[in-house]
Amino acid sequence: MSAGADGRSDEVRLDSGTRELLRERVAEVMAKHRVTAGPYAYTKPSPRVYEQQWLWDSCFHAIIHLDLGDAEQARREIKAALSRQVASGPDAGMVPHMNYFDGGGEPLWGTPDRSGITQPPMLAFAVREIARRTSDLGFVRGVFEPLRRYYSWLAARRDPDGDGLVSIIHPWESGWDNSQRWDELAGFGDDEERNKAIRSEMCARLKGVGFDSAAALVSGWFDVEPVDFNCIYAENLAALAWCARELGFDESAEVLDQKATHVREAIRDKMRDPATGLYFDIATVEGEERPIERPIRVETPAMFFPLFAGIPWPEEASALVSKLASPRSFWPQYPIPTVSMEDPRFAPDRYWRGTTWVNINWFVMQGLLRYGFRDVAEDLACRTADLVLRNGLWEYYDPHTGRGLGAKDLSWSGLVLDMVRLAET
Ligand code: GLC
Repeated sequence: MSAGADGRSDEVRLDSGTRELLRERVAEVMAKHRVTAGPYAYTKPSPRVYEQQWLWDSCFHAIIHLDLGDAEQARREIKAALSRQVASGPDAGMVPHMNYFDGGGEPLWGTPDRSGITQPPMLAFAVREIARRTSDLGFVRGVFEPLRRYYSWLAARRDPDGDGLVSIIHPWESGWDNSQRWDELAGFGDDEERNKAIRSEMCARLKGVGFDSAAALVSGWFDVEPVDFNCIYAENLAALAWCARELGFDESAEVLDQKATHVREAIRDKMRDPATGLYFDIATVEGEERPIERPIRVETPAMFFPLFAGIPWPEEASALVSKLASPRSFWPQYPIPTVSMEDPRFAPDRYWRGTTWVNINWFVMQGLLRYGFRDVAEDLACRTADLVLRNGLWEYYDPHTGRGLGAKDLSWSGLVLDMVRLAET
């Protein structure tokens, strides 16, 4: 794709032709990946590499199913994701990041049918989307209580310092498994095999404490409040408040809205670097007398998630968007690389270390639209559509060449269809 005079794509148009072409490709992949497991049904992320159900993937899949006109499959995706919610014990309410419907989870997790950690909490957002697009409140009513328990679990068990921001206990929980954001804390570097081994060791350590959130967080192993995870959390609390209001639970709605506001304020107060206006994750590490918090100063598109959650003032948003749209840092031919191209560790072909991911583009596009940056949002949608039309639905892409990398036919890359829909709204 070449850039037009104004720097925008001049080959792919956000029109019905593009939408139809994408729709065909996405529908084919989603149909191929459909799995039925007893009373449940879900979509696997990709054959062979990712056969199980993953939590945030399924939330994205629900949205893609809605775009394809299959609301029933969207609902089934969510029901399956909730089916292994932890029922008892200190972490009751947790929704696992992986469900194993045919068993096999035992070696890694000590439980055959699910993992012991979670993932970015997108469930309420997906449920609100189902409700909005189908006017089906019966479904919301059926899942409201499990959802409420999940978000209460996050607040009760993952916010030990009570600042409103929630912590993750393993890089897998961020969804950005191998990001440079975790290099210093986890010890990741250029050696992929070593990084993988580290992630397994970290998991084994957590297994040793039964994936107990409190034990993990006092251990000092890995305690990070990520910007994007917390923005997703805030936005999902607001989505859950919307669901509560629709169901007539006005008091719950009020409390949930207040919580969402509190999380947004905490993100702004604690994560925003006043000198640059950029937002950084916070790590809790051992201090001389007590644990101390410090920002993880790695520039990645997680910095733009506050736009998705409506956090910056409008004038602050412009500074963030200038950073995003800069060809030196985040705007190559196929944005958005998962680390700034100015970071010496930027790697255009490596897992979460500089490659472009469609789900990240989808979040950032919504932030851009929320703040009225329609041109940038449309350009992002055009370039993402071009990327997928030329190369197919890959797990991630080289941001310079667009070459598809990782798992082939990765389901969530179908979110490109939702980006085209968003551009039209
Ligand atoms: C990889 C990604 C994770 C995703 C999973 C399934 O592990 O890092 O975010 O959920 O694949 O697609």
